Formats: sequence, structure tokens, C-alpha cells
Amino acid sequence: MNDNINNKNFLFFALNASKKLGNEIAKKLNKKLEEFVVTKFADGEVLVKPNCSVRNKEIYVIESTSKPVNDNLIELLIAIDALKRSSAKKINVIMPYFGYARQDCKTKGREPITSKLVANLLTTAGVDRLVTIDIHSPQMVGFFDIPIDDLKSIDEISLWIFNYIKSKYNTSFPKICIVSPDNGGLIRARKIANKFQLLNASVAVIDKRRPSPNISEIEYILGDVKDKICFIVDDMIDTGGTIVNAATAIKEKGALEVSLIATHPVFSDPATARINKLIDENIIKNIVVSNSIELKDNKVKNLKIISLADFIASIIKTSVSEQSISNLYIERAKKFNSLLIEYVNKTKKG
Ligand code: R5P
Repeated sequence: MNDNINNKNFLFFALNASKKLGNEIAKKLNKKLEEFVVTKFADGEVLVKPNCSVRNKEIYVIESTSKPVNDNLIELLIAIDALKRSSAKKINVIMPYFGYARQDCKTKGREPITSKLVANLLTTAGVDRLVTIDIHSPQMVGFFDIPIDDLKSIDEISLWIFNYIKSKYNTSFPKICIVSPDNGGLIRARKIANKFQLLNASVAVIDKRRPSPNISEIEYILGDVKDKICFIVDDMIDTGGTIVNAATAIKEKGALEVSLIATHPVFSDPATARINKLIDENIIKNIVVSNSIELKDNKVKNLKIISLADFIASIIKTSVSEQSISNLYIERAKKFNSLLIEYVNKTKKG
């Protein structure tokens, strides 16, 4: 890929919710991180203004609409409006975490479809292209009539699993199982398991019911988890109910070891207490999340964080140099495969 992108006419901004990740990405791009000046009025209104001229420039702006969801969303919308009215050439918005993505359909009468509303707001504000990561329901891309790339963190997650296995098992292969804590995550679980075909990874899925928002109940488990090293993979951990119930259930079914992996650490109460209890009771071994959401005051014990900075920086490079994102995925898959083959060959030899 063309690494020499700094002669290109683009600027990279981070808004308040994604400053830390923005900084990491800027370093990888070898680019100055531009900022918005955010002024708060006494009544709570905000004024958001880029700190430099954006005239005729291609813009990348990063902001997760995580907690406080509404404040971060409105800050982003106003920033986009400011960029548009300052004659930016193209506005690319990167939302590592897209808040409101779970309200993507009517489950009962008189409910809104807020993800569609947010899609309309972003488009009306002036976004030209949107980049998201592991958006809750992939069909949501159809809510937009602008280009949207919903990136998958499957490679990052698989690499974490691989490094973990490699560090623990160097004389024999473990029996591994990728578990989806609900039907919605089954495709993701299967894709990850496919990456570990050489190790005969299996898949299990939990039939979860949601009697009301944030309450989850388990009906049954499909797949064999007994005596296996299990990795439960979800798009997000909000209150922790889903993933904690899943971990407890598969441990009861005889899983040898359980790790929890999720892209978005929403971590609303009582997630921290629930996860820490599982750690204290030795039900889970690892808890792994990405840095799509900045954790200001994390109290989850021994939390492992996968950085998305490299991945997002490569996506920006690819797009600035007008190259194909699909090719980037192919290159990453090839790299992963050769690591796995090398490990399998070494371990076979003993
Ligand atoms: C639901 O379908 C999502 O994929 C997550 O499983 C869910 O939003 C997590 O929420 P909680 O942690 O509150 O159970």
C-alpha cells in the first residue's frame, strides 16, 4: 500500500469522545491531529468549530457516539455542519462506535427506528462517507444513501485469540470453540472460527431472549462446548447481562476455559460488577475489548484492550490513496494464515 500519503490534501480531526484513539491514529499516519474548538453556552448549547481552514480539503473526523450518547452525537452533527459550511471538499466520518444502532427496527407497536433517524441526521448534516466498526446490525448500511464502510474487527479479534493460544499451547493444539451469545452474532462467530479451521475450531450459539431492554435470558445452547477453550464474541458489552449469562451457561455445560471478547465496551452499570464477579469466581479467564470507546475510569479487573488504531490508520491510508479496502482485507487474511501455518507446523514438530 502507498504509505506516502502526506502530500495529499487531507486533514484528520478527532472530537471529544475519540481523542485518545485519534491521537494514536494520527501518530500512525504521521499526521497532525487537528481539533475542533468546542464552546459551551450557559444553557448547554454547544458551538463546534474547526481550528484551521478546511477549504477544499478532504476531511476525516473521528467520533464514537458513546456515553454521553446524545452530547457526542450532537457535537458530531454540529462539527459536520461547520465543516460543510467552511467549504470542505469531502467529509469522511469515522464512528468506531455508532450509538443508537440497536434501535434498528420496531419490535413493538409505537416504537421509533432511531438508527434510521441518526442516519438521516448524519446525511442531512453533510457527511459524504461514513466508516463504522462492527455496527450492531450490518443491514443498517441500507439506512444510508451515501457510501458506508462497516469495517469488521474479526482480524483483530482473531489475532488476539491466536496470540493467546500460541502463548499457552506450544506442544499440542487446544480444542477451541467460538461462541456467539445470541443469534445475531452467529455469522461473526462462524467467520472467526473459519479463520481457525486448521485447528478445527467449532462454533456454538446461545439462544437468548430479551423480555425487555437490557434484560437477557438463555433458552438453550446449540453446539458442543464441553472440554473446550471457549471464546464468547459479541459486538458490545452494555450492562454485561448477555455475555455474563452466556459465560455462566457454557461453563456449566463443561467448557474448560471461557474468555469474553467484545468490540465495544459500552460498560453501563452493572457491567463492571458483573464481570468482576465472574473473574473472582474463576468463571472467565480473560475479558478483552477494543478501544472503540474510550474508557475514562475503568474498574474491570485485568481488562485487555485491542487497539483499532492500526486498522483505522490503514483504512484512511487506503482511502486517501484511492485503493481498494477489499485488497487490504485480503492482505491481512494472508498474513494471519501464514502466522497460523507457522504455529501449526512448529507445534506439530513438538
Ligand atoms: C445485542 O443483540 C447485542 O449484540 C449485545 O449482545 C447486547 O447489546 C449487550 O447488551 P447487555 O450487555 O446489556 O446484555
